[in-house]
Amino acid sequence: MTSVGPAIEIQGVYTAYEGAERPTLTDVSLTIGRGEYVVIGGPNGAGKTTLLETINGMLPITHGNALVCGHNVRGNGVQVRCRVGYLLQNFSFDPLTPFTVEEVVMMGRFGKMGLFRKPGKEDHDAVKKALALLEIEDLADRPIGHLSGGQQQKVLLAQNLARDPEILLLDEPFSNLDMFAREAINRLLTRLVIDGITVIIVSHAFDDLPDRPVRVLVMQEGKIALDRECSPGEVEQVIRNAGNGTRNA
Ligand SMILES: Nc1ncnc2c1ncn2[C@@H]1O[C@H](COP(=O)(O)OP(=O)(O)O)[C@@H](O)[C@H]1O
Ligand SMILES: [Mg+2]
Repeated sequence: MTSVGPAIEIQGVYTAYEGAERPTLTDVSLTIGRGEYVVIGGPNGAGKTTLLETINGMLPITHGNALVCGHNVRGNGVQVRCRVGYLLQNFSFDPLTPFTVEEVVMMGRFGKMGLFRKPGKEDHDAVKKALALLEIEDLADRPIGHLSGGQQQKVLLAQNLARDPEILLLDEPFSNLDMFAREAINRLLTRLVIDGITVIIVSHAFDDLPDRPVRVLVMQEGKIALDRECSPGEVEQVIRNAGNGTRNA
């Protein structure tokens, strides 16, 4: 069942990696509504991945409050991750990984069905639908480790869609994809947003954005330096200008 309220409500959040002297995210506040398409930009090390992992309940929040799909992230990481899809930056499978594409996509259902239950019709249908959305039905029986980086990225996106997420977090999902795959995935993401899914994407590929206004967040040094709505054509310039602003300051 879809939860009520905004997708994400973060107030005064600090996130620290274990053993680190200082927090990586400092005093981040952010509200993101259902069905928003958010592009996160900013230089390497700015805290983009850290923000996604904070939202997904994977990192300790030392101060502040974070509600995701109505759940307090602190203490409810599992509840949050059941509702959130997360495509990791630069993830690839070992060539010897002993799972087929279909099995990897089915893993997306574990949060819903429980690890030790056998998949039911609903689970198989969700996997089929996800493979079809990514147009990778023909890869279903192939060992995941034998596929190209771009194909593996598509499989992981399918795994996340099979979870039926309310929020989709994508960390540089276009890095291994060719132009055609990027266009296809963009059309798919736009459709998901229209269906009410919240899409938050860290990306430097600005030529592939939905043909409608998007919300741009620019991160710098663990803070949100800029937060505004703009047309797809403006996104690259807005992110560039935000960077120049601090460098000259
Ligand atoms: N596992 C980690 N342990 C300690 N510090 C980390 C870890 N991962 C990232 N950091 C630090 O947090 C900061 C932000 O990193 P990250 O969120 O990965 O940046 P971005 O995704 O914007 O490139 C960097 O200074 C980085 O060194
Ligand atoms: Mg990153």
